[in-house]
Amino acid sequence: FRMVDVIEKKRNGEVLTKEEITFFVNGYTVGSIPDYQASAFLMAIYFKGMTAEEQGFLTMAMVESGDQIDLSAIEGIKVDKHSTGGVGDTTTLILVPLVAACGVPVAKMSGRGLGHTGGTLDKLEAIEGFHIELTEEQFVKQVNDLKLAVIGQSGNLTPADKKLYSLRDVTATVDSIPLIASSIMSKKIAAGADAIVLDVKTGDGAFMKTEADARALAHSMVAIGKQVGRNTMAVISDMSQPLGFAIGNSLEVIEAVETLKGNGPEDLTELCLVLGSKMIVAGEKATSVEEAREMLKAVITDGSALELFGKLIEAQGGNGAIIHDTSLLPTAKYQIEVPALSSGYVTKMEADDIGVAAMLLGAGRATKDDEIDLAVGIVLTKKIGDAVQEGEPLAIIHSNTEAVEQSMTLIQKHITIGKEAVESPRLIGDMIT
Ligand code: URA
Ligand code: CA
Repeated sequence: FRMVDVIEKKRNGEVLTKEEITFFVNGYTVGSIPDYQASAFLMAIYFKGMTAEEQGFLTMAMVESGDQIDLSAIEGIKVDKHSTGGVGDTTTLILVPLVAACGVPVAKMSGRGLGHTGGTLDKLEAIEGFHIELTEEQFVKQVNDLKLAVIGQSGNLTPADKKLYSLRDVTATVDSIPLIASSIMSKKIAAGADAIVLDVKTGDGAFMKTEADARALAHSMVAIGKQVGRNTMAVISDMSQPLGFAIGNSLEVIEAVETLKGNGPEDLTELCLVLGSKMIVAGEKATSVEEAREMLKAVITDGSALELFGKLIEAQGGNGAIIHDTSLLPTAKYQIEVPALSSGYVTKMEADDIGVAAMLLGAGRATKDDEIDLAVGIVLTKKIGDAVQEGEPLAIIHSNTEAVEQSMTLIQKHITIGKEAVESPRLIGDMIT
């Protein structure tokens, strides 16, 4: 092939063959196709789209560009979960022990990423001593012994995606549904999952701002999974307001512990039960989501999910005592109330801007070399629909400096207080299978 012909074909809106797509991915990964041709090609995809079949070919070419984790030595169906990201999304920390306690092996590979808070790895590292470097052998053994492990992404997982994602970032081609879907799915497939449960967020704090876009992304990812033989399903969930109350690394570990004890925020708990039920059915430990839901509630009530979280922490070098005493986690020097400026009802809570307020405190990274302050963040005291009196706290800022003016102003500005009560937004939208 000549790359110029492949670009022209996509520019004209034609459907590419597996060979043409693989030619591009391999050529770009090794450097024989230059950035300028790859850029033009990505832009052609941005405007002309890709069929489900083309997306499957693109995904598999990226999977095959690097290492693939072999989880076949782990008994049972390995079920992975992926969330498209949002503000204060603590679900992974909760779901890993929750689902494992019901007998489904969870071999989780997680990322750090940029954003309002760290990723799952950063959150776990708020626990003193916790390390995320296991060899593939140790990883497999730990999952066989304990049913759960969480590690960092291996260096050579989907190098094609890494390179393409960086290029997309500077060529205005990130927000293309076929490119996002294949990027996310390539990493899940390379990480070895047999079944994948996707949590596609929608709303102000999400990548996909509208439910229609979230649904389209979910359909694309489910179609890719099916095409390559992985049982894949998606749940659309609300991210118009932050999930749960805590936004911050150490603060979210505390929230996860509380949720595993059955004292978690209502929305976070419900989303974990919905996603967890799907994971258990996919892992064939229950035949219906109703049965799975009862199993999940039981391992919360009898304490076994929390206990397993403690075992995970101990197995990876951390202090498991934090599950009984969360004051052992990093704590910020100052706890500062954010007072409401008027009385009424919370009608809007812009997740994105509240996330920025957390990032300004040091809870997240703006660039990949930024240091995170694991102790800081925001704990909301109100959610959409709640009544509030002037002067009452909307949130508590946890900070290591007293200069929190900027974050405080952002929070006050982006939590709208109206005169009329409103319904809280619907947490769970469509399910796509
Ligand atoms: N997250 C990913 O991993 N890839 C994308 O393309 C977008 C979000
Ligand atoms: Ca949260």
